[in-house]
Amino acid sequence: MREELLALVSKRGTLLEPAAVDYLLNQEDPMGPLDRFLATCREVPFVITLRDVVQAAEIGRIAAVHTRSVAPLSTAVSTARVMPPGIAFRALPPASFRREGDAGADHAPNVSILRDITGRSTCEGTLEDFTRYFRNRFDTLARMLRNRRELGGAQDISRARRSTREVRFIGMISDIRPTKNGHRILELEDATDRITVLVLSNSPTATETFVLDEVVGIVGKVNDRGLVIAESVVRPDVPVAKPFPGIKEHLRVAFASDIHVGSTTFLDEKWSKLTSWMSSDDEIARSLRYLVVSGDVVDGIGVYPRQDEELAIDDIYGQYEALSTMMAQLPDHVTVVMIPGNHDAVRPAEPQPALPQPIRKLFDSNLIFAGNPSLVSLHGVKVLAYHGRSMDDFVSAIPGMNYHRPLDAMKEMLKMRHVAPIYGGKTPIAPEAEDHLIIDPVPDIFVTGHVHSVGVDAYRGVVLVNSSTWQAQTPYQKMRNIEPLPARLPIVDLATGQAVIKEF
Ligand SMILES: [Fe+2]
Repeated sequence: MREELLALVSKRGTLLEPAAVDYLLNQEDPMGPLDRFLATCREVPFVITLRDVVQAAEIGRIAAVHTRSVAPLSTAVSTARVMPPGIAFRALPPASFRREGDAGADHAPNVSILRDITGRSTCEGTLEDFTRYFRNRFDTLARMLRNRRELGGAQDISRARRSTREVRFIGMISDIRPTKNGHRILELEDATDRITVLVLSNSPTATETFVLDEVVGIVGKVNDRGLVIAESVVRPDVPVAKPFPGIKEHLRVAFASDIHVGSTTFLDEKWSKLTSWMSSDDEIARSLRYLVVSGDVVDGIGVYPRQDEELAIDDIYGQYEALSTMMAQLPDHVTVVMIPGNHDAVRPAEPQPALPQPIRKLFDSNLIFAGNPSLVSLHGVKVLAYHGRSMDDFVSAIPGMNYHRPLDAMKEMLKMRHVAPIYGGKTPIAPEAEDHLIIDPVPDIFVTGHVHSVGVDAYRGVVLVNSSTWQAQTPYQKMRNIEPLPARLPIVDLATGQAVIKEF
């Protein structure tokens, strides 16, 4: 049976995690969950994990009972989600959503998904895929950097290495190490060569923070030992000041994430208060048109060891059903846009596609499902929604970063024009042909979740939102002394970009 399992996955160009093999071999029908998983995933992941097969087994157990009783998605939504694979997203017309039969033009949502991996994943995780992925990342970010005045006439690294004067070049950081004297050494690469850069601790560049695999421009001088002394570091960044493209009316968008439905620590009373307020006569509540939900919408199953002890709903399908009921209770004038996070039932590797069809079927047709990350236009205002898993890597890589200050990490992402630059850390990255984690175009609003904190700010005209959780402190957080800030609702006015946080 083991051979049959491995033969099936290899035929589909993927791999099976050893723990998943063991799990399947202990099932009555070992092929069943694997078949089901492969049939429902739009993009075959490069490794099928234990979590994938456990969830598939769970969905299979209950699906037959439930799928008969749920309404199909509206034509508008399902048509929009079916897109041919392998087409560069810029060539695609945006998928638009308009709810038919709404109370009036005032209530009609105006949503387009401008950028999303869903239905367009092409990678299988081969070595060639990784090479192609990193080349695409480098080329795209290098193109942005070449437009910067400071990098006019930037050379290839192979030429810069032979120079004896001032040099300007662009490279991907492949190593960062401190010297005995407190300086830092960077190794940078492009397609032509590799070069060593010294960042002196007493120079203007001393305050710069660097992470592995980001793409930067360097202006410097070559010393007599062939080492480049960095004089300035140039990042792709966003324009210095970008006006907010305000719409005429004071329509508002609210942000939530990390609801963790199914967990014993899910705050159902706080969520009920939110639902009542949204349906109330409060002026701001009445002006709400959208709720963007940035991942970890349910707690999932098999996400961390002994999670079952902290679950109030211990099957994945039941968790999404409970969420669906909660969403159905929100007022009709609010359209929900939902992306997955690391607890949700999609591949963990980013970019993550939208939740799969068997789960989407549980929800009302007015819910819009998108991938993680996604760039979504709300009345023409561009919202970049990203769950925020990479914050784990930013916190470990950059001294001074911490989970209570997620907006700092978000500013770094905008400077680097990449939501998850660090490869090989806690954020699994799928080597797609095109790097969907690059921030392009520049959004008007950038939202993340994941860290169970909350905050709003702005960086060079981009409104920053870190949305709060709807889960109380978990035993794990308690053990690590992490105090979450739950049940806060950031709200942004689409007319002005002004952000407020409402506490429940
Ligand atoms: Fe998360």
